[in-house]
Amino acid sequence: MSDSDMCSHHGDPDSSGGTYPNETMKLLFERASCRSFSDQKVPAEIMKQILGAGIHAATGGNLQPYSIIKTEKKEACEKLAELCGGQPWIADAPVNLLFCIDYHRLERWAGLEVAPYSARNSFRHFWTGIQDTVIAAQNICTAADSLGLGSVYIGSLLECLRQLRDMLELPDGVFPLVLLSLGYPKTRAQPRKKLGVKVIVHDEKYVELDDLALLDAFERKYPQSKREIKEDRMERIVAVCRNVRGEDFARRCLEKINSQGYISVAHNYFGLHYVADGMPDGNEEFMSIAEEFGLGWFKKFRYTGESES
Ligand SMILES: Cc1cc2nc3c(=O)[nH]c(=O)nc-3n(C[C@H](O)[C@H](O)[C@H](O)COP(=O)(O)O)c2cc1C
Repeated sequence: MSDSDMCSHHGDPDSSGGTYPNETMKLLFERASCRSFSDQKVPAEIMKQILGAGIHAATGGNLQPYSIIKTEKKEACEKLAELCGGQPWIADAPVNLLFCIDYHRLERWAGLEVAPYSARNSFRHFWTGIQDTVIAAQNICTAADSLGLGSVYIGSLLECLRQLRDMLELPDGVFPLVLLSLGYPKTRAQPRKKLGVKVIVHDEKYVELDDLALLDAFERKYPQSKREIKEDRMERIVAVCRNVRGEDFARRCLEKINSQGYISVAHNYFGLHYVADGMPDGNEEFMSIAEEFGLGWFKKFRYTGESES
């Protein structure tokens, strides 16, 4: 897959610029994912500060149910890149951080204290754990940005969870959520256009945009991201439409694309990239992977006595 294909869903750059009341606001408005890293190593002291900023993030009950696996060895970064679908920036980054929910460490603590524990079997804990882990990750991104580094989240690790567990020797109760590749940028990416505050924020209650306003909001976000009609792309989109909504819908979709003369961003997202027929594949498999990783939040909890020694 070429870089341009890979990034076809990343949206349009935002060149509007702006003035900001302080440096933090400038940093937040001008952040962008970085996929081009220089060879410069990240000094240990800088890394320590960035990681320290992460673990000071808010966390439900101040429990910190997460672990971060830091990978700096070149071969290991290359292995991560290979496992995560061959995204070259993972191998080029001097540091990769794997953010995992960690209900293992708390279980050990509770066990040593002879305290009751069921967090691996609780959806409530799992839900909070996701939030805690991601909030810590985002603090790390912002801290890294503030020190002149850049980073990009990598979500495709979902396709190689077992390999990651084996490679990084993750114990039961430790579940990878997201990878972050970080380092000094070779080139600084421009911020992407986003849906505006008026679209995202609802005053007091959820307000539905009318159809035209909704289409206009997405058009403003992606003014230049339409893709050329090509036979292989069209075959793929039509097949996806047929698989999820049947023959009649596939025909309507084909007519729509041909009449407008381009592949729209929505068709690209859900017909070519995050394909609507393939994305729900493996839902049950993910449940069994979670179980294999020692998490059982989707089942009725029964104390089994297994952890009693
Ligand atoms: C959960 C998550 C998963 C992501 N996975 C990937 C990925 O696998 N590869 C990649 O290049 N970018 C990935 N990204 C980065 C997004 O593509 C990026 O944030 C988005 O295109 C918006 O661009 P911006 O970050 O520059 O604003 C991911 C971002 C998030 C939050």
